[in-house]
Amino acid sequence: MHFFDYKNRKLYCEGLPIEEIAQRVGTPFYLYSYHTLVRHFTVFNQAFDRIPHLVCYSVKANSNIALIRLFVGLGAGMDVVSGGELYRAINGGADPKKIVFSGVGKGNDEIEYALKSGILMFNVESSQELQAINDVAGRIGEKAPIGIRVNPDIDPKTHPYISTGLKKNKFGIDIRMAPKAYQLASELPNLQIIGIDCHIGSQLVEVEPIVEALRKLKRLVEELRKEGKEILYLDLGGGLGITYEDEEPPQPVEYASNILEEIKEFDCTLILEPGRVIVGNAGVLVTRVLYTKENEVKKFIIVDAGMNDLVRPSYYGSFHQILPVTQETREEIVADVVGPVCESSDFLARDRKIERLRPGDLVAVMSAGAYGFSMSTNYNSRRRVAEVLVRDDRMYVIRHRESYEDLIRGEEIPDFLVNPQE
Ligand SMILES: Cc1ncc(COP(=O)(O)O)c(C=O)c1O
Repeated sequence: MHFFDYKNRKLYCEGLPIEEIAQRVGTPFYLYSYHTLVRHFTVFNQAFDRIPHLVCYSVKANSNIALIRLFVGLGAGMDVVSGGELYRAINGGADPKKIVFSGVGKGNDEIEYALKSGILMFNVESSQELQAINDVAGRIGEKAPIGIRVNPDIDPKTHPYISTGLKKNKFGIDIRMAPKAYQLASELPNLQIIGIDCHIGSQLVEVEPIVEALRKLKRLVEELRKEGKEILYLDLGGGLGITYEDEEPPQPVEYASNILEEIKEFDCTLILEPGRVIVGNAGVLVTRVLYTKENEVKKFIIVDAGMNDLVRPSYYGSFHQILPVTQETREEIVADVVGPVCESSDFLARDRKIERLRPGDLVAVMSAGAYGFSMSTNYNSRRRVAEVLVRDDRMYVIRHRESYEDLIRGEEIPDFLVNPQE
């Protein structure tokens, strides 16, 4: 469900024609629908209403502080994976007591920052990390609240790059080794065990793998509780998928009811870390056709957004629907929609059936709200694009297009290169 629809052959975001927004901010740009974001978060959150729970929005999916603030206003906590994301969460107004810190390689500086911020819980991914958190906490006189991220060795049946809960993945501590890690944690003086965590992968289109992971975690928690270890929070991670093309992931209510069925008698607060399902279909990337060209084997539509702006198609081979911002009745062709970046892997769609576009036409690359801007780069020294939020018939620029000055900010030419004679 989203609020990007055609009215009189023009594509709108809520009450505003996308063409009008493009005239005002230029292209390319990311565009988010406020009411879609609110609806996705609310539906997901309410689906778990029957039990004590905390929805920690996964900042990596889309880290703009305006979106963080929007979710904070709806009661969200945050799931962060770096000091930078923690900084964003705090600047977006998140309550530190609702922030969980995941990630396989937290540095000492990040650990210290999180401790001083007073976060809810570190999701710890190795025994050495337990030690490191203990050391930093001891040095600054804090007690660190921790849960262990368990790797349950479950196939989430998703793209290998976004599968995280298999033994061969770098994430978490093997579930059979977890009791030993908890024992170590209980012996370290500056740690306080409060939870358990797992995240088995992203873009999950089936609910069984997550239920299986939950069952494994429950068994482990029962074992830990018998040893007197207190597990107050069970964090199931994120991962619920969305429809990009023809996938049929479970709806949040169905996803939740399967989880609730398993956990209803289990005395703990459930934490969830959704990202994609909240923001994915609430955002599009708007881009303009620069040129078209063809030879005897291929037709190309060259647009002004590239793989640096939206890497998912070239990185994961993922599908994004591409819609004309103004519907014409032109013949359909099969073409590659490609960007300006100097890589053959710079494409937004390959062999796509699409109406014949002309230079100057605008298109919307759909379902680009998650892992779109947040994975964008400056490759080819391309400026990162603007981000716009629409609410009803008003638009708000929530990130300005980068300038050329932004591109070289922080760079320096050493003196010996400026004055080679000296
Ligand atoms: C630890 C953790 N939590 C949550 C998420 C969010 O996943 P998704 O956007 O699929 O909901 C991720 C994504 O990779 C993750 O690594």
